[in-house]
Amino acid sequence: MLNDLGTKREEFFPGVVQQVQQTDHHLVFTCANRAGLKVEILADGLLRFTFSTEGAFARDFSYAVFGQNKPSPPAFEFKELADHFRITTQELICTISKNGLRTRMMDRSGQLLNEDEKGFHWEEHQDYGGDIVKMSKVAQPQEFYYGLGDKANNMNLRGERFENWGADTYGYGKGSDPLYKNINFYMGLHQRSAYGIFFDNTFRSFFDFGRERKDVTSFWAQGGTMDYYFIYGPTLLEVTQKYTLLTGTPELPPLWSLGYHQCKWSYYPEKVVKDLAKGFRERQIPCDALYLDIDYMEGFRCFTWSKDHFPEPARMVQELKEDGFKTVVIIDPGIKIDPDYWVYKQGMENDYFCRRADGPVYKGTVWPGLCHFPDYTREDVRQWWSGLFEGLISEVGVKGVWNDMNEPAVFEIGTFPNDVRHHFDGDPGSHRKAHNIYGMQMARATYDGVKRFSYPDRPFTITRSGYAGVQRYASVWTGDNIASWEHLWLANIQCQRLSISGISFVGSDIGGFIETPDGELYIRWLQLGVFHPFCRTHSSGDHGEQEPWSFGEPYTSLARKFIELRYQLLPYLYTTFWQYTTQGTPMLRPLALLDQNDPECYDRMAEFCVGDHLLLCPITQAGVGGRRMYLPLGEWYDFWTDKVFFGKQEFWASAPLDQIPMFVRAGAVIPFYPVQQYVGEKEITELTLHVYYSANTCQSVLYEDGGDGYGYEEGQYQQKTFLTATSLTTYSLSQQVQGDGKEAHETYRVIFHGMPAATAAVLVDGQDVPFEASENQATLTVKVPATFNQLSLHSVMPTT
Ligand code: NOJ
Repeated sequence: MLNDLGTKREEFFPGVVQQVQQTDHHLVFTCANRAGLKVEILADGLLRFTFSTEGAFARDFSYAVFGQNKPSPPAFEFKELADHFRITTQELICTISKNGLRTRMMDRSGQLLNEDEKGFHWEEHQDYGGDIVKMSKVAQPQEFYYGLGDKANNMNLRGERFENWGADTYGYGKGSDPLYKNINFYMGLHQRSAYGIFFDNTFRSFFDFGRERKDVTSFWAQGGTMDYYFIYGPTLLEVTQKYTLLTGTPELPPLWSLGYHQCKWSYYPEKVVKDLAKGFRERQIPCDALYLDIDYMEGFRCFTWSKDHFPEPARMVQELKEDGFKTVVIIDPGIKIDPDYWVYKQGMENDYFCRRADGPVYKGTVWPGLCHFPDYTREDVRQWWSGLFEGLISEVGVKGVWNDMNEPAVFEIGTFPNDVRHHFDGDPGSHRKAHNIYGMQMARATYDGVKRFSYPDRPFTITRSGYAGVQRYASVWTGDNIASWEHLWLANIQCQRLSISGISFVGSDIGGFIETPDGELYIRWLQLGVFHPFCRTHSSGDHGEQEPWSFGEPYTSLARKFIELRYQLLPYLYTTFWQYTTQGTPMLRPLALLDQNDPECYDRMAEFCVGDHLLLCPITQAGVGGRRMYLPLGEWYDFWTDKVFFGKQEFWASAPLDQIPMFVRAGAVIPFYPVQQYVGEKEITELTLHVYYSANTCQSVLYEDGGDGYGYEEGQYQQKTFLTATSLTTYSLSQQVQGDGKEAHETYRVIFHGMPAATAAVLVDGQDVPFEASENQATLTVKVPATFNQLSLHSVMPTT
C-alpha cells in the first residue's frame, strides 16, 4: 500500500508471540521482534487493542475516553490453542494469531464480525521518527460502513478514502476532505450484525473503505500508537450508543438552546441588533437566540467590545433578555499581538502561547492580523482561558459562546506549521500530534468558563472543530456551506452522520453561509433545520438578507409555520436530548439504524428519524411538490393528513412547499407545547398529547424538568412513560411518572389520531368524561388532569 506521504517504504509486522501476561482485565502479548499487543477487556462487547512496536507501550492517555466512562470489566475466558489464542466474553469470541497478532472477532454463535487482513503493521517515519501505524481488515462482501463525523459524502462510506486533519474548508462540496472535524469512529454492518471501531489516535489519520483495494478496509495515522476499540452491537444503534457513552455525553443543555437561533456575519451596531429583535417579535416569529459575530469585538480582539458598535453591551444584552432573547457571541483562538491588549499581555507574561520548535512564540495571521495562539493542551492555559469569560458572562450577561476557527485556521497557510509545540497534558509533542485535538481543547476550556460563570444556569457553547468526545463540551455546526440545493442535501447527511458518531447536538447554517438562497431553498432548508437539534440560520451577510422574513410572502408565513412547529415539538426534542445524554442514543437516526434487517435501508440517506417516533425526508430539489421515499418497517401516519402508510415500501410523498414529508410511528405519543415566541414566555398549563392509534402495545417517554439549572440532578424532573394498548372494545393510554419534580401542567389535551371505530365513552381513572370527535370519528379530543393514570376509550365496535 502506498502511504499517504506518497511513498512506499519498508513495512514491519509483529512476529511470533513469545510471551503472554494476564492481569485482571488485560492480556499482553509480546513477540520475538518486540512488537506487542495489549488487549483490554472493558465489557462483554467492548475490547481495546493497543500495539507497541518496540516493547514498551506509550503512555495510557486519551482526550476522548475518560476513565469514568469506561464500564467495569467483566469476567472472560482465555485459552491458548495450536496457532492462536482465544478470548471469550459473554458476547464475543476474539482470536489472536500467534504469528503476526492478527485478530478475528466473532459473536458467540461463531458468526464472523470482523477480521484482520494484514492486521497491524507499521513503517518508520523517516522525517519525524516514530511510526506510521497501520491496520488493515477484510472488507466483507456486502459490508456497509457508517460514521466518521462530518464527512460530506454518501451515507455508506464504502469505496471511499477519508482523512482526518481538521481544516477550515470554506465552501466545501460533496467529496471535499478533510473537513472541520476529526472523528475516528466508524461502524461496519454485514450479515445483519454491526460492530464499531474507534481509532483513538490524534495524529493525521486516514480511513480507506475498499477504495485502494476493494476487499480491504484500512486505517492508519502518521504517528502515535495503533490504539483502537472494538465495539460490538449487534445493532448499529447499540454500537453508536456504546461509542457515545465511551466518549461521553453532554449535560442537558438549557431548553432555550433548542429554540430557534438567528445569526449573521455580522449584526452590528446595536441598532441593527435591536431592529432584528423587533423584527422577530413584531412578526410573531419565535426566536430565542441572537448572535454577535466577530464585529462585536474591538479590532477582533477576543474578550473586548467595540465601543462604536456596542457602547453599552451589558445594557443591550439585558434589554434583549427582557424581550426573551439570549445573546451568543463568537470567540476565536487567535489573540492579537498588541502590547496594549490585556489578554495578549497575560498570555505573554505567563507563557501561555504555543511556541515553535526552536523557541519563538508562534505567529499566524487571522482576523485581527498577526496573532499568538493559546496552547489549550495545557491545564493552566485552559484554566486561564475559562477565566477570561467572566466579563462576557457575569458582567455583560452573554448566555452562549461560539468557538470558531479552531481547527486551528490560519490565513494563507491553512493551519500551524508542524513544528509548533504543544504540552499535550504532560506528554509534549509537535502540532502533528495536537492538531486534531486543538479545537476540542479550546471548546473544553470555553465550556468550563461558560459553565463556571453561568452557574446555576446551564452553559451553551458551539464549536466548529473537534475530536472524538467533543460532544461533552459543545454543540457543533457543519461550517461554511453554500446556499445551494446540493448543500441542503449535504446538511441532511452530515448531521445524521455526526449524530451517529456521538455528536447529536448538531445543525447546519440554515439557508447556506455563502451566497443567498431564494425563498424556496430557504424554506426547504428551514423545514429540515427545525428537526436538527441545533437550529440556526447563519449567513456571511455580504450577499443579502437571510432572516425568516427576507424573502417576502408566502415565505415569511411558511418560515413562521415551521419555526412554530419546532416550538411545539420542544418537549419531544428535549426528551430526545435527555435520552441521548442518559443512554447515548443518537438524536438523528439514519434508516440503517432503524431496521438493519432490511437491506433496502442500508444505502438510504434522505430519510431519517429524529428521536423514537418522527420520520422526516427533506425535499432537496427545486420546483417539486414531493419526492419518492422509503418508509422502514412498521406503520406510519402522515403527519399532515393522518393517512396511514405501511413500511417497507417506496412511494411518492406529496409535499407542497408548506409541507416536508413527515411521518409519525403508529402507537406514538407526541407531546406538544403551545407556540411561544421564546422558551419560558408562557406558563404551560396545558400540554397537548398527540396519540397515534396502533393495534400494538406501544411505549413513549416524556422527560421534563426546569429546562435550566441543575435541579434535575437532585430529582427535580418528571419522567413520564405512556403506554397505549388495545383490548377487544377499548383503547387505553396509561401514564406512569418517575422523579420528584412537581407536575408542571394542570391538564393535558389528548388528541387521538386514526381511531378505527367510533367511541361511545371515555373514562379517565374510572370517571366518565366528555370528549369531542371528528365527523368521521377517527380523531378524538379529550381534556384530562395532567396527573391521570389511565384513560380508556370504549368503542361502539371492536377496535381490532
Ligand atoms: C468562519 C465561520 O465558519 C463563520 O460561521 C463565521 O461567520 C466567520 N468565520 C466569521 O467569524
